[in-house]
Formats: sequence, structure tokens, C-alpha cells
Amino acid sequence: MIDPAYYQMIFKRKSFRKFNDTLKLSQDELRDIDEKVKDLIPLIDTIDVKCRIVQREETTCKRGEYCLLIYSEEKENFLLNVGYMFEQLDLYLASKDIGVCWYGMGKTQVTGYDNLKFVIMIALGKAYPHEFRKDYTKCRRKETQEIWNGALGLERVAEVVKYAPSACNTQSWRVVCEKNQLKVYRIAKVKSIMPKDKVPFYNTIDMGIFLYFLELALLYNRLSFQRLLCQKEGEAELIPVALYNLKRA
Ligand SMILES: Cc1cc2nc3c(=O)[nH]c(=O)nc-3n(C[C@H](O)[C@H](O)[C@H](O)COP(=O)(O)O)c2cc1C
Repeated sequence: MIDPAYYQMIFKRKSFRKFNDTLKLSQDELRDIDEKVKDLIPLIDTIDVKCRIVQREETTCKRGEYCLLIYSEEKENFLLNVGYMFEQLDLYLASKDIGVCWYGMGKTQVTGYDNLKFVIMIALGKAYPHEFRKDYTKCRRKETQEIWNGALGLERVAEVVKYAPSACNTQSWRVVCEKNQLKVYRIAKVKSIMPKDKVPFYNTIDMGIFLYFLELALLYNRLSFQRLLCQKEGEAELIPVALYNLKRA
């Protein structure tokens, strides 16, 4: 069950680029993160995912006290699954005043773990409450109408989900809302400093993050749904990712 308490964290979270080196995570906090990871809700429960928290110095990451290294089986939609799962951790850690940054650029020498492949890392470090986002409306995002077509009573959902984080802030998500159905797409062509061949990888993780934001916002607005993931990514410019059948009360 998605935790509605995370909803408020959508407005508090941000990508931490500067960590206060005088603050340290306690052993209790590290244990709590380990426990929380076990509770993350998968998008696809047949994909094995594990993670390890290591000192930042064990990676190429230049920020944060620790890095959380995420490993996964490479089954269909595994990148969506990683985004969906670990965005829950991003929101949870904001509630605990722990700063986070998804760090796609980061590398580790430990590229395999329990037969699972390294996917991405997240930098972590303790922060002061005042270092989190104060006014989410000021952060750089596309206009709602650019990413969301048709609203039909979902205006607030459309307005909020666009604050999901994405690699290089590419925001490759597009939503078409028709009657009681939401169609979620990824646009293949994005303007970004990312190397072109890396875009599908990172933007698919982003889409998993976005699906979690979307579901959290729907449930917060008392809208239940049935989700269907699209089977195969195609070559099209608009790649179908998921379909939501809404059950309005
Ligand atoms: C999959 C993914 C990879 C990212 N990789 C990096 C990175 O390598 N370096 C970095 O500084 N920020 C990285 N970010 C953070 C984004 O730049 C950030 O989410 C975006 O600019 C929006 O800002 P916000 O998270 O503060 O709302 C990444 C975010 C995601 C979701």
C-alpha cells in the first residue's frame, strides 16, 4: 500500500548537490534506511533488486556522506522498477531530513552483487530541515499543459506530478487523459547534455519515478486505479509506458 504521508514530501524533496560535511548519519539512521529499503513497494515483484550503502569514497561520487548502490536483475521493465522503488526512498528520506541525489553519473568498481547488475546510485547525507525545498513552485519544470493533455477533474494531480525528479531534468513524461483512462508515455527525443545513447536508460528510470509520483497523487486525491504496464518499448517518438484505468468514487 502506498503511504500517503509521502505526498507532502513531494514538495519538500530536492536533489542535494551540496551536503553539509559537519553533519553525519548515525548508525540508527543507517539501520533505518536498510529497514526501509526492505519495505519499498516494487512495480514488478518478480524482479530481484538489492542495494548496498557504501562510503561515498568507494565510488566516483563527489558529494554526500554515503552512496546507495542499486543492483537489479535485468528483466523487462527493470529500470522502471528501480525508479519506482527508490523514489519511495527519496521521499521517505526527505521526511527524515536526509538529503538525497540520484546520481546517474556515478560509477562504482563493484558492478555486480549477488548476480545482480549495478544500475544506478543515490548520494545520501544528513541535512538541516531548512536545506530542503521551501517553495516547490519555483523549481524548474515544464508548463503543465506541455506534459499533460486533458484533465477532467485531475488538474491538481497534473500540476503536482510534474515535480518528479529526472536525469538532467529532462521530464520526458507525457500523459494523455481520456475519460477514465490515463495513458503515460515517454518521449524519445529530449534536449539534454546526456549522451544520446544513454537517454533511454536514464529516462526509463525517470519514468518509474514518475509512475510513483502519479500513483501517490492519484491515491492522495482518493482515486483508485488499475495499472497496466506496456510490454515492449518501440522505436516511436512517443513510447507507451503504462495505462491507468481510473475508478472514480
Ligand atoms: C535517474 C536520475 C539521474 C540523475 N543523475 C544526476 C547526476 O548524475 N548528477 C546530478 O547532479 N543530478 C542528477 N540527477 C538529479 C536531477 O538533475 C534532478 O532531479 C533534476 O534537475 C530536478 O531537480 P530536483 O530533483 O531538485 O527537483 C538525477 C536524477 C535522476 C532522476
